[in-house]
Amino acid sequence: MNTVFRLFSLVLLASLPKGYAMDNLKLSSGYNIPSVGLGTSSIKPYDLENAIINALENGYKHIDTAFTYHNEEAIGKVLKKWFAKGGARENLFITSKLPSQGNRPESVEKYLKQSLKDLGLDYVDMYLIHTPFGLKEGVNNSPKEVNGIEIFENVNHNALWKEMEKQVKNGYAKSIGLSNFNQSQIDNVYKNAEIKPSNLQVEIHAYLPQKQLRQFCKKHNIVVTAYAPLGSHNSRTYLHKSTGKDLPALIDLPIIKDLAQKYKKSPSQILLRHTVQDDLVVIPKSSNSDRQKLNIDLFDFKLTAEDVKKIDNLDKGEKGRVFDFLKFYKGLENNPQYPFVEQS
Ligand SMILES: NC(=O)c1ccc[n+]([C@@H]2O[C@H](COP(=O)([O-])OP(=O)(O)OC[C@H]3O[C@@H](n4cnc5c(N)ncnc54)[C@H](OP(=O)(O)O)[C@@H]3O)[C@@H](O)[C@H]2O)c1
Ligand SMILES: *[C@@H]1O[C@H](CO)[C@@H](O)[C@H](O)[C@H]1NC(C)=O
Repeated sequence: MNTVFRLFSLVLLASLPKGYAMDNLKLSSGYNIPSVGLGTSSIKPYDLENAIINALENGYKHIDTAFTYHNEEAIGKVLKKWFAKGGARENLFITSKLPSQGNRPESVEKYLKQSLKDLGLDYVDMYLIHTPFGLKEGVNNSPKEVNGIEIFENVNHNALWKEMEKQVKNGYAKSIGLSNFNQSQIDNVYKNAEIKPSNLQVEIHAYLPQKQLRQFCKKHNIVVTAYAPLGSHNSRTYLHKSTGKDLPALIDLPIIKDLAQKYKKSPSQILLRHTVQDDLVVIPKSSNSDRQKLNIDLFDFKLTAEDVKKIDNLDKGEKGRVFDFLKFYKGLENNPQYPFVEQS
């Protein structure tokens, strides 16, 4: 029975046209990462439990969270119920992140253990350094200016990374990686690492495709996760410095709507497919079950090279960036670890 099934799967796989992205990507750590994950940072607290339950029932295997999102306890509650109903831990991929105020070697284990406790897990599948810059312990990670107070702390990325590696050796994280680091910062960590970063999570969507950074990561076998993969159209009005907010929502662009019609898919599927088709991971956020279903259903069609190019042409470079963090922290642009300095 099993053999027949496997044979059947093999034939099915072999008969798929070439170029369909896989719904899993291999990390240099040896583990697989599901190509679609649920973003959770902007899910409203009252929506959270339902959104996570729906996502699991809709087939999501990958959940993206962070200490900073203040939602790990709620996610933990849902996971507990999921496991009680027979869901297997090893079928899920959970990402968490070390907050900016934990960016010193002696704080790494403390924050990771707190996340594990809140999530009710023994390990996370991926642990990322959330930002290359550091905040002083106790600084609240909320979008407020802290007037007149020096809130930043200098970070030694290599010393911090050593401690991240220790978490793998301890068994608290299966894989480790970086988020919001720029190319030279990644290069520095990579060159000095014993366990290489296997994942980079950065803002990527049609307005900010970051082709050069992706090329660099490909060369170093670092899987790239695109955050805000739909362009985070609902954040832009309150978050941005000055740039991305003036651009229309990607899902409303006529070119995207036309492609949606052509492929009989939704605008969101066109945008997400464009990204996964280049072997990236996407973590769209949706609190809505129907939209969650659309966002994970990306593997039965393929954009032609010509249509890929049409979407490539939407590149706005740095003007497309939504999350530059300058709105969060006054004076960040002068921080020695601020990653987007050359571009802004
Ligand atoms: N590492 C970092 O520093 C960092 C920074 C930012 C974000 N992230 C991660 O990336 C995730 C996603 O980013 P994001 O939430 O800012 O932006 P996004 O995923 O690009 O966009 C989310 C918005 O799109 C809507 N949406 C989702 N699916 C849709 C569909 N099929 N059709 C129409 N609208 C749809 C959502 O509304 P509904 O919920 O109503 O569907 C929500 O308003 C975050 O949740 C977080 O996990 C990481
Ligand atoms: C990356 O960030 C560092 C620290 O701010 C900066 O010195 C460097 O120029 C940046 N590199 C790139 C490629 O943007």
